Amino acid sequence: MSTRVFIPNDTAARSMGADDVAHAIAVYGERMGLDLTIVRNGSRGAAWLEPLVEVETTAGRVGFGNVMPNEVDTLFVHGQVNLAHDRCLGTVESHPWFAAQQRITFRRAGVIDPLSLADYEQHGGLAGVRRALTLSAAEIVADITTSGLRGRGGAAFPAGIKWNTVRQATDTTKYIVCNADEGDSGTFADRLLIEADPYQLLEGMIIAGLAVGAERGYVYLRSEYPWAITVLREAVARAYAAGLLGTHVLGIGPRFDVEVRVGAGAYICGEETALLESLEGKRGVVRAKPPLPAMRGLFGRPTVINNVLTLAAATDVLAAGGARYAALGLDRSTGTMPFQLAGNIRCGGLVELPFGRSLRSVLDEFGGGSLSGRPLRAIQVGGPLGAYLPEHLWETPLAYESFSAVGAMLGHGGIVCFDDTVDMAEQAEFAMAFCAHESCGKCTPCRIGSTRGVEVIQRLRRREESRRQWQLLEELCETMEFGSLCALGGLTPLPVRSVMTHFAGDLLTPVGGTGQ
Ligand SMILES: Cc1cc2nc3c(=O)[nH]c(=O)nc-3n(C[C@H](O)[C@H](O)[C@H](O)COP(=O)(O)O)c2cc1C
Ligand code: SF4
Repeated sequence: MSTRVFIPNDTAARSMGADDVAHAIAVYGERMGLDLTIVRNGSRGAAWLEPLVEVETTAGRVGFGNVMPNEVDTLFVHGQVNLAHDRCLGTVESHPWFAAQQRITFRRAGVIDPLSLADYEQHGGLAGVRRALTLSAAEIVADITTSGLRGRGGAAFPAGIKWNTVRQATDTTKYIVCNADEGDSGTFADRLLIEADPYQLLEGMIIAGLAVGAERGYVYLRSEYPWAITVLREAVARAYAAGLLGTHVLGIGPRFDVEVRVGAGAYICGEETALLESLEGKRGVVRAKPPLPAMRGLFGRPTVINNVLTLAAATDVLAAGGARYAALGLDRSTGTMPFQLAGNIRCGGLVELPFGRSLRSVLDEFGGGSLSGRPLRAIQVGGPLGAYLPEHLWETPLAYESFSAVGAMLGHGGIVCFDDTVDMAEQAEFAMAFCAHESCGKCTPCRIGSTRGVEVIQRLRRREESRRQWQLLEELCETMEFGSLCALGGLTPLPVRSVMTHFAGDLLTPVGGTGQ
């Protein structure tokens, strides 16, 4: 029987040489007369182990981390997998980094051939939509409400409330929009899911369509994700060919169509109303709310707009029932969250866990310390608008409420690590500069305020009139918080204030001082 060898085909693995490794394994197999079948799977999210080669054995899939093309002929001895190899990790599922996770949304990632619908179904795919097809729209929404599922894109708004608003809207045309813009620093979960398990997203969109009475969906994907675009477009084409999409979902349901649209790459186009403008072919500028997109969204019609992970989670909610999903997590942060470990960290990658574990335990158990080997000093959670957390706050449970209680936010689950060489004043300036660069320009506090903010922080960094500039910065932050039209301007003060609160020494000690 042919031995299956899995080599990830996702952006991260390929950037680390996975294509060359796949080629080398094919050549080696031929030369040695081995009967190998190479499967290009998605990534399991262990970026620190890529390229992660897995060989199927009777005991399970045996993994080899960081394989180089010139090493492939040592992975086998006499045609058998070389368990004594330096890079051998044993069976991947029993490796502590994977075994300690609780994967729901990412349980197929890296396991299946991403574009094989048969593989998808064999591993539990389509169970959600099949059940949804037996329920009324109200029952589907009730299940999502019971699950407590909240938007994974950043704002954590309850999906059930959003879906119900669109369901109850009387308009005959409604839309489902998937926000796959993924602009936050240190985040890659949306890309990883699309490249590893694209049918899950399509299934989630179909379920949302059934729930609210929408027959058309759009995925708004960032142009910086060329491979994800290719994979998703191919998945859409195959879903049409298999009758999952098109005139009757799975041959029995109503019509559902999906189109993939590519954004040109502006952070603000991840904000839902700017995204809708962009989808309509206009410049990505924020719309004033109300009306909410759920009432008047794409082309003025009621629209569900959800993040990739929210829609993906909906498939499991429907498959297993809302109560099962709600049983995981902490308080109102139900279910699981894919945390993305990035920055100065040894074992960077995606870790899916129920909400509630402390940030420190995730750093210790999965992160493996800083990549530089120096002590970690600051962790930014929640993208460029998230707070920088000092060590005494790392015990905070990773959950929406506990994070907001310490003046932080979880956002899309990005965790970016900095060691003790970081200059936090530079990070504060960066936060303002990022806002100035990405501002859509519609309102003054954000457009002008962020530029002035950069100047004030620069003066603080030069130790010019520190006390006056500090006061000015506080007032500016307050103006941006209360006067901005959207969360870009409104949340930029969060990272800045976190530096002022927890790392004040970096902004205020005399030049040449030791900082905090
Ligand atoms: C400046 C800005 C950028 C955003 N970028 C994204 C993004 O890249 N992806 C995303 O899903 N949500 C993003 N959001 C949140 C969206 O506005 C919106 O809350 C989300 O798409 C709703 O889906 P959800 O409820 O499933 O999270 C952003 C918000 C702001 C203010
Ligand atoms: S806060 Fe900034 S990004 Fe948001 S509407 Fe105002 S100018 Fe545009």
